[in-house]
Order: sequence, then structure tokens, then C-alpha cells
Amino acid sequence: MKKERILSGMRPTGKLHLGNLFGALKNWVGLQDQYECFFMVADYHSLTTPSDFAQIQENTIAMVADWLAVGIEPQKSIIFVQSLVPEHAELALLLGMFTPLGWLLRCPTYKEQIREYPDYQNYGLLGYPVLQAADILIYKAKKVPVGLDQVPHLEITREIARTFNHHVGKIFPEPQPLLSETPKIMGLNRPNEKMSKSFGPDNCLYLADEPETIRVKIQKAVTDVGPSNKMSAGVANLFTLMKQVSSEETYQLFYQKYQKKELKYQKLKEVLASDLIEYLKPIQKKRKEWIAHPEKIRQVLLSGSEKARKIAQETIKEVRFSLGLKL
Ligand code: TRP
Repeated sequence: MKKERILSGMRPTGKLHLGNLFGALKNWVGLQDQYECFFMVADYHSLTTPSDFAQIQENTIAMVADWLAVGIEPQKSIIFVQSLVPEHAELALLLGMFTPLGWLLRCPTYKEQIREYPDYQNYGLLGYPVLQAADILIYKAKKVPVGLDQVPHLEITREIARTFNHHVGKIFPEPQPLLSETPKIMGLNRPNEKMSKSFGPDNCLYLADEPETIRVKIQKAVTDVGPSNKMSAGVANLFTLMKQVSSEETYQLFYQKYQKKELKYQKLKEVLASDLIEYLKPIQKKRKEWIAHPEKIRQVLLSGSEKARKIAQETIKEVRFSLGLKL
């Protein structure tokens, strides 16, 4: 039976942290056998917020090195760069004609962004969900593995597909989010918010961090904020990480100590740091092999983008034709 097609993407933020790994990437790896997977570097999307243009290429290589190190396989999945398939931009332009402004103005991610960057309100940012719809619809993907924060974008994608199908012709499936149970990793020094690069290096543990850096960062992780009768957010986060990287016995042992109020945070941190170092070791080994040959990463992306583009071109042809753009 033909595998169902799925697509997901990440903006090229550079090397990835544990939040990216456990929140998304590990999930992607597991989907590769069951689905026909498209994994995209959303470089056009990265331009919708203030960005350092000189960094995009480097960030792309660093991020994709992590994808490959964790087990995204070019033999199984199509790994590609959005801007190398410029048909995404053309489809976004055309889908824009079927997107009422209200849908975009009401989008929660848009409202959040303009609150955060009041001086950076532009047409591209408003159109972010239209471009994302084009990313998905151009491959007629049926499902989109994403986190809850992306659900509004998927809703807009379906509404655009429905409107287009209704007014022009039935071309697009209505894609559903593929929501998997993933742990939410919080920032090491701000455990009430998601781990994020924008809160500085002590907030994130990177897959590429050296053992000594891992020890220091875990050592410095905040443990003691929150009401005393409840597990604090920082401690809860360390347990979440332990659940991912330590054995079940270790996890249970520390959890029981916590319940008996005998837990020494120092000991928890030491064991967690060691287990994280072990867990990341094979990933880091593969990452080093890839990063030593950036031209090979580039080759993976060029060849994936070529495959993606063939499919994208077919869809664009179909779309142009139905819109009367033909001669
Ligand atoms: N908006 C997504 C994010 O910030 C990235 C993205 C761009 C994406 N295009 C996509 C995700 C298409 C899924 C499908 O995480």
C-alpha cells in the first residue's frame, strides 16, 4: 500500500536543543517508516521576523546536521530547503487571493509576534500562514506533524484549501495536524517557559554541547521556584528530562526519594547530567562526522530539493491551469 504523505518544517535556527529534540525531531525520526516524509528547512519563513541574513546558510547546515545525527535519513525521507523550491512562493501568492484578511489578522501567532516586535509589522509576517499552507498543499500532504502551537496555522491551511477547492476546482486535500504525545521541555533557567534559544545559552541544552558544558548547565538549572507543597517547575523539568534519558529504575528511584522528601537536588543533577552525556554521545558522534563535511549536508539538501521540486512543479501546473493562467 502507498504510504500516506506527511510534511513538516523548522525555521533554520542553527543547532538544536533538547526542546527541539524531544518536542519534534525524535517524533519525526519515528514517522519515517510509516509515512512518506518531507522535512523542510523553512528559510523563507525565517525572514518574517528580524533575522541575521548572513547566518541563514550556516544555521541551515547546523540544524540539518542535527536532523541527520538524530536519524532523519536521506534514503527514507525528502529533506529539502523551502527557497530551493520557489514554487512555494508562487503558490503562496495564488492562495493569497483566496485568503480573507480576517483569518490572518485573528491568527494568534501573528498577534503574539506584533506584540513582541511592534516595529516589525509587515505583509510577509501577516502572510506567514499562507506560505505555510503553500508548503503543505503543494505536496498534497495529508498530515502535518507539529506541536499544539501550530494548530491555528493548520486550521487556516484547511480553510484555504476548502475555499480554493470550492471556487476553483478540487485540487487539495484538507491536511490534519499529526499531534503526538511529546514532553514539553522547559528552559533550564526559566522553567515556566519553553526552552528557547532567545533566552540565551544557559536556557538551552544543545545536542552539540560538550560533556563539561552539559554538567555546568544542569548544575546551574533553577530548582527552587514555586510553591513549597508542589514540585517546582524547575525540578519537574529535570524529572521530565530524566524520563527521556535515564533508565526507568533511575527515574523511579529519584522520584520515590522526592516523594519521601529525601531528594538531594545535587545528586539528581549529577546523575541526570551523566545520563544526558551518555544519551547524546552517539548523536554527537554522528553530528561531528556530518559537520566535518558540510558539502555532504549541502548535497543532501540539493538532491532532496530537486526531488521535492519535481512534485511541486506538477501541482503548480495544475493550479495555474485551473486559474486560467495558461496560454
Ligand atoms: N511554522 C512552523 C514552526 O514555526 C514551521 C513551518 C513552516 C512548518 N512551514 C511549515 C511546519 C509547514 C509544518 C508544515 O514551527
